[in-house]
Amino acid sequence: MDTPSSFQTDSLIAEDIDAYLDQHQHKSLLRFITCGSVDDGKSTLIGRLLYDSKMIFEDQLAALESDSKRHGTQGEEIDFALLVDGLAAEREQGITIDVAYRFFTTEKRKFIVADTPGHEQYTRNMVTGASTADLAVILIDARKGVLQQTRRHSYLVHLLGIRHVVLAVNKMDLVGYDQSTFEHIVADYRTFAKSIGIADFTAIPISGFKGDNITTAPSANTPWYDGPALIEHLETVEVDAAAAQEQPFRMPVQWVNRPNLDFRGFAGQIASGTVRPGDAVRIVPSGKTSTVKTIVAVPSGGFAGKTDGFDAELDEAVAGQSVTLTLADEVDCSRGDLIAAAGDPPQASDQFRATLVWMDEEALKPGRGYWLKLGTQMVTATIQPPEYEIDVNSLEHLAAKTLGLNGIGVAEFATDRAIAFEPYAVNRQLGGFILIDKFTNATIAAGMIEFSLRRADNVHWQPTAITRDDHAGMKNQTPRVLWFTGLSGSGKSTIANEVEKQLFLMNRHTFLLDGDNVRHGLNRDLGFTEADRIENIRRVGEVSKLMADAGLIVLTAFISPFRAERRMVRDMLPDGEFIEIFVDTPLEVAEGRDVKGLYKKAREGKLKNFTGIDSPYEAPENPEIRVNTVDMTPEEAARYIIQQILPLK
Ligand code: ADX
Repeated sequence: MDTPSSFQTDSLIAEDIDAYLDQHQHKSLLRFITCGSVDDGKSTLIGRLLYDSKMIFEDQLAALESDSKRHGTQGEEIDFALLVDGLAAEREQGITIDVAYRFFTTEKRKFIVADTPGHEQYTRNMVTGASTADLAVILIDARKGVLQQTRRHSYLVHLLGIRHVVLAVNKMDLVGYDQSTFEHIVADYRTFAKSIGIADFTAIPISGFKGDNITTAPSANTPWYDGPALIEHLETVEVDAAAAQEQPFRMPVQWVNRPNLDFRGFAGQIASGTVRPGDAVRIVPSGKTSTVKTIVAVPSGGFAGKTDGFDAELDEAVAGQSVTLTLADEVDCSRGDLIAAAGDPPQASDQFRATLVWMDEEALKPGRGYWLKLGTQMVTATIQPPEYEIDVNSLEHLAAKTLGLNGIGVAEFATDRAIAFEPYAVNRQLGGFILIDKFTNATIAAGMIEFSLRRADNVHWQPTAITRDDHAGMKNQTPRVLWFTGLSGSGKSTIANEVEKQLFLMNRHTFLLDGDNVRHGLNRDLGFTEADRIENIRRVGEVSKLMADAGLIVLTAFISPFRAERRMVRDMLPDGEFIEIFVDTPLEVAEGRDVKGLYKKAREGKLKNFTGIDSPYEAPENPEIRVNTVDMTPEEAARYIIQQILPLK
């Protein structure tokens, strides 16, 4: 077996631990991902890398040592086969959780390898691992050649913006180290790689099991191979941070530092480019400009950007560094903003097109508001039905209405505020985002921005002279949206009608939007699928907001079965203006009344997607008002509601 390249480091640990740690800290870091399945020898290869570099987490080491004692293997040498078994078992246990990150180091570099399962149902795990990787090792079994999964993995690697690809043709020992087998596979892969836009890759014939071409090359078994060994290549490939320094300056603001009155610094990690005192900068999205006064270094080991304002000042800082900037002018700038080169700022937009990888069991709901987190920016985003979905095996574009678990597609996005970004292909950090469910806080998707939609750039908010306060003031009332929700036949329309009558008698200016009526006009293009109901409520929400802006007390009577959309409307309005009224009629009672005969039809299967029967109703958890229509007449319910909302001035 070849000599591990980290022996010298090991002896340095014994002699001078400080020198060792120092050397360790200044080594560059390469993050990479291994793509393949257990059958391709992935665990063996990772085991080989860890074993040959002698860097294994201490607890792993301890576990393996006790294992080897149990198995009667004596001595300091960790049994390679045991290590591989351990890794494979760990991988299997953790398979559905996420990604196993393993750390190892050689003299030249530190490495974090993301180990993800290779099967299609774990696409989301692979995407997670690939999103932070600079390089991908695509494993091929020399006996099998380029397979469907090789294509899928390569496509994902390319999609996630990994620029360095290693084609590791493994198990060369099992094909007699045959040169032509290797070359055949490489030629095959080259044709495919080109077709998906992978311009270049490094092919290495290896045996993870025997150790050929892992640390030194060529191995005696492959005298015909004249390229680098795997570890050698990993040690020398240029990391992306260097490339990011060539781009224009951008720094997302992580927080504003104000330790004393004289110091106001903007802390963050530089995403791209270089910055020097005196540089002209622009705050995005606001567009305000200023110049950099000072750049303050962040003390090593301290939290990024925490400074008392008296730390060492720098002449220059580059991509990857965490710094605090002070500016010459008192401009508005806070967490989520981006400080950029004034002459070459990034795009800021509230509409864009992006590729999306769906990672949640629950499918994408077009029109629903999700949290979108891009760097330090957090906004609400809604997504149009996908333009197409990509079949990860055939790479065909398929028509799709939504995306399910592991689905990949392209769609248009709208956000409630403009965000600053760079296309993902230009800068992964500034163009990659995640989506978060507002209720469960789970990460449900990863996205990669392609470009801003022009229409967003050309539509601007037009300020008007008469404000909503003027409108409301003239009507001598405070606007409200009384949002009635409940099952079909629960009594929403009847009670809302009664409330409007009583308010009218009190000289209030009101307007009632009723589900059945609005569906005859504005929303006559919508049916009762989840997507249509979401769009129904979105439009009614927007109309209610306009009417509230006009100073009215708006009453709405829609089933509005989903919490997320009721919350979306609540969030559109000023605090306290949205009043959720739950018309809490049990299903049996509503069905018993069956005023329109729809429950009967639904039970007979003649009406699909009927709320409460084969379409869900998510009852409010904390409505402002709840009315019980079993014990109260509509008039009583209306009087009760009005008592709750007084005064209206
Ligand atoms: S919502 O779910 O999108 O909020 P909305 O309140 O506008 O529904 O419309 C509900 C009304 O449409 C019901 O009162 C009923 O008269 C009628 N309707 C027709 N089909 C359905 C259905 N499948 N589910 C519920 N309501 C339906």
